[in-house]
Amino acid sequence: MAQNSTPTSWRQKPIKQAPAYPDQAALAAAEKKLATYPPLVFAGEARRLKKAHANVADGNGFLRQGGDSAESFAEHGADTIRDFFRAFLQMAVVLTFGAQLPVVKVGRIAGQFAKPRSSDFERQGDVELPSYRGDIINGIDFTEESRVPDPHRQLMAYRQSAATLNLLRAFAMGGYANLENVHQWMLGFVKDSPQAERYRKLADRISETMDFMKAVGITAETNASLRETDFFTSHEALLLGYEEALTRVDSTSGDHYATSGHMIWIGDRTRQADHAHIEYCRGIKNPLGLKCGPSLQADDLLTLIDILNPQNEAGRLTLICRFGHDKVADHLPRLIRAVEREGRKVVWSCDPMHGNTITLNHYKTRPFDRVLSEVESFFQIHRAEGSHPGGIHIEMTGNDVTECTGGARAVSAEDLQDRYHTHCDPRLNADQALELAFLLAERMKGGRDEKRLRSVGA
Ligand code: TRP
Repeated sequence: MAQNSTPTSWRQKPIKQAPAYPDQAALAAAEKKLATYPPLVFAGEARRLKKAHANVADGNGFLRQGGDSAESFAEHGADTIRDFFRAFLQMAVVLTFGAQLPVVKVGRIAGQFAKPRSSDFERQGDVELPSYRGDIINGIDFTEESRVPDPHRQLMAYRQSAATLNLLRAFAMGGYANLENVHQWMLGFVKDSPQAERYRKLADRISETMDFMKAVGITAETNASLRETDFFTSHEALLLGYEEALTRVDSTSGDHYATSGHMIWIGDRTRQADHAHIEYCRGIKNPLGLKCGPSLQADDLLTLIDILNPQNEAGRLTLICRFGHDKVADHLPRLIRAVEREGRKVVWSCDPMHGNTITLNHYKTRPFDRVLSEVESFFQIHRAEGSHPGGIHIEMTGNDVTECTGGARAVSAEDLQDRYHTHCDPRLNADQALELAFLLAERMKGGRDEKRLRSVGA
C-alpha cells in the first residue's frame, strides 16, 4: 500500500463485479468521451459535505441518506424526481425537528445506476443469461441482446445524472425547499394515511414558529437558511471505468476528486483491501461510505479504515452497517468497540434494508417491521456503547409502490403484485419512509433528553 493511488491504478488490481464488455474498443472510446465531459459536482461541494459529516462524526448532526435502489432510463420524469425530493424533505424536516440537530441530506440519486449481483447469471426456465447489472451496464429485459454490456449506456447515465442533478439543485435552492412550504410537501396518497395527521401537526408547529420569527424580522426572504437547503448526491462507485473518467484534479488543492457525485460508497461485496474498488477510493478526497455486513471482521475493518482514512480525518468515512434485524446485535457491538478503542473517527450509519430481504410470492421484499427493528437495535446498541448513532441509509421512492410489506397501511404479501416497480431491490414507499422518520425522530429525541439529564447530573 506504500505506493500512491492514481485514478488508473485500480486497473492493476483484482476486481469483483466487473462487467464483461465484449467490445473493448467501444468501451475505451466511451470512457475517453466521458473524460472530456464537464464534472457533475465540484470539489468544493464535496469538501463542504465532508465538513458536514465531520460534524455528525462528532455527535452534532444526523446523516439522512436515501433514494432509489437503482435508477433507470425508463423512469426519468420530472414527477418522479419531484415526488422523491418531496418525500425526502418531509423526512428531513421530521428528523430536524425531532432531533433538533442539523440533518445532512444526501440522496442516493443522480448516479445510482450500477448494481452488484450475487450471481453472474440469471436462469429463467431453461434459459440462462448474464445478470442485469443496472442500466449503466446492460438492459433489464430477459433477452440475450439486452443483457450484453453496452458502453454507450455510460454516456446515457451521465446525461441522465446531469439532468436529475440540475432539477434537484433547482428544487433545493430555487424555493421549493423553503420551510414556508412545509405543508405543501405532503404527497397526495399520504394525505389519508395515519402518518398524515402526525405530519400535519408537526408542520403546524413549524409554521407557527416561522410566523413568530417573521414577526420579529427573520423571514425566508432575508434568511437563506430558511429558504434553501444543501442537498448532496451519492451512489455506489461500482463501475470503476466510469468513475475514473469522471475523476478530476481540483485546481485549488491539486487533489483528485470523484466528480460523478458528492459522496461515493464501497459495497459489501467489493471491499477487499487489496482489490480494485478500495484502490480507487483511497486515491480520491470525497467523503466515502463503506458498507459493513456480517462477514466483516473487526481487524479487517481497522485495516480498511487505515487505507481509506490514514489521517483519521473526521467526515471522511461513514460506516454503513447492514446486518439484518436478527444479526445486528451479534455484529455491531464488536465493530463499534474496535473502532472506538482505536480512536477512529467515523460516522456510524444504519442501512436497515439490505440485511432484511426475503422472497414472498416470488417477489423480493422487505418486511417493514424488520426494518424498524434493525433501526431500534442500532440506536439501543449505540446508546449502550456510548457512541453516536449518526445516520440512516435507506432505499426509498416518493411513489406509491408496494415493494416492502407492512407499515401503517399494511402492504400484504398479496399486495406486492399491485405496484411492484423496482428495477432491483424493494424500496420503502413515501408513507413507510415517513413512518420510519417519526420513529427515528423519537429515538433521537430520547437520546438528546438522556444526554441533557446526564449533563445536569440527574
Ligand atoms: N437550511 C436548513 C436545512 O437545510 C433548513 C431547511 C430549509 C430545511 N428547508 C428545509 C430543513 C427542508 C429540512 C427540510 O437544514
